[in-house]
Amino acid sequence: MNAPSLPSVARPVAAAPAVAATPVATGFGGTLSEGVAKLDINGKSYELPLLVGTENERAVDISKLRAMTGVVTLDEGYVNTGSTTSAITFLDGEKGILRYRGYPIEVLAEKCDFVEVSYLLIYGKLPTSDELNSFGKMLSHHTMIHEDMRSFYGGFPRDAHPMATLGSVVGALSTFYQDSLDVRDPRQVEVSVHRLLAKLPTIAAYSHKKSIGQPLIYPRNDLSYCENFLQMMFAVPCEEYHIDPDFADALDMLLIVHADHEQNCSTSTVRMVGSSDANLFASISAGICALWGPLHGGANQASVEMLEKIVADGGNVKKYVDLAKKKDSGFRLMGFGHRVYKNYDPRARLIKATCDKLLAKIARHDPIFDIAQQLEEVALADEYFIERKLYPNVDFYSGVIYRAMGIPVQMFPVLFAMGRLPGWIAHWIEMHHSPSQKICRPRQIYTGERLRDFEPISKRV
Ligand code: CMC
Repeated sequence: MNAPSLPSVARPVAAAPAVAATPVATGFGGTLSEGVAKLDINGKSYELPLLVGTENERAVDISKLRAMTGVVTLDEGYVNTGSTTSAITFLDGEKGILRYRGYPIEVLAEKCDFVEVSYLLIYGKLPTSDELNSFGKMLSHHTMIHEDMRSFYGGFPRDAHPMATLGSVVGALSTFYQDSLDVRDPRQVEVSVHRLLAKLPTIAAYSHKKSIGQPLIYPRNDLSYCENFLQMMFAVPCEEYHIDPDFADALDMLLIVHADHEQNCSTSTVRMVGSSDANLFASISAGICALWGPLHGGANQASVEMLEKIVADGGNVKKYVDLAKKKDSGFRLMGFGHRVYKNYDPRARLIKATCDKLLAKIARHDPIFDIAQQLEEVALADEYFIERKLYPNVDFYSGVIYRAMGIPVQMFPVLFAMGRLPGWIAHWIEMHHSPSQKICRPRQIYTGERLRDFEPISKRV
């Protein structure tokens, strides 16, 4: 095949670079030293290196801090902690910029399809037409899952959440594809990459078919990535299914804008699990579980459910904006706010524009799109949201498009996982190639009991 092969993930000896001359992890990929930061602990002064990345992000390198000073840093939720250097995605939350391998997502969404963007993320460069062709062929070649895996679906309860099914079946890939589990064999890693990208739409569509009691539809390798997914989701054996090209295009755009987002919760999970040398299938399965939560990828489901509730409640958006401001209400505007973006999420902008176009083109009116826009308008004019710089995020409008396609709400996080897959893979590979890679193992500050005497059970009260 013509796609460049992935390099070995064998650990580097001393300072030798782990990555051979391959396109993976291209770009500057490093940090420059930019002087020192001074730290005073109980009157003793220490100097720590100050680093700067290619886009002038600055960091204090604390990797030797404990050895030098005996103290560690504490940063719950990693609000101020850079867990790694990375050459994959640049995100400027203040300016609302998102780039994969240096290319703005707006450009990629307009000019590429998801398979091409996947290649870019994983191999570090845009493919030539031969490379794209053979990469695409690999993804078509591996679309079927092992026939015995289909019987798994019979064992899951019919009302299981499809994210639970997805995570389980992806984890189970390691039981069926034992010939591609060696994380140090570049060929095996590459086969796992192809298998994952090719099979995830099949696994995802089967989760849906199972939940509605319809037969599982085999993939069709003559279709594009998104067309194939739509036909596996919606076709039935007894009649022909017409794939709407507008839906396939909109889905392609959605997968592209979800494809990577640097060190988010699920990607950090994939890196953390992978850092123990767990195989790629196991690491991605863990990432799917992390993504499911409503504060992360599950927010697209939570957001549409919230909008549906507001519509059913008469459409009074002000009431819900006010509720979200009350800390004791336990209610937040789902699809709003972000750890990194303190400006409009560029993904939300692209998605909203596609909602507008798609609904107009298919002449569909969706009351939740109206409510979403009203909610955005009221929230963005409200002092609470302005002060905290809370804007719609990627999950606010995506559900409107999924609904228009007829995708049920529980499948929304599954679609997020399909989009995020190449990003997870790219980070897993990059992590393995880092010369300074170590198992991820944070420290803690213990706040429990000091040493105490053991009480026999007869004496305990
Ligand atoms: N509605 C109301 N208030 C909010 C919201 C919201 N959606 N998001 C944040 N706030 C408030 C929060 O109460 C806090 O106020 P205060 O300073 O008075 O305590 C302030 O804004 C900062 O919030 P935070 O929780 O400290 O911020 P964080 O960076 O820890 O959390 C977040 C980020 C995305 C988890 C959060 O904004 C949230 O819960 N949003 C709703 C869920 C959501 O849409 N998640 C999808 C995120 S984007 C896609 C992805 O990455 O998966």
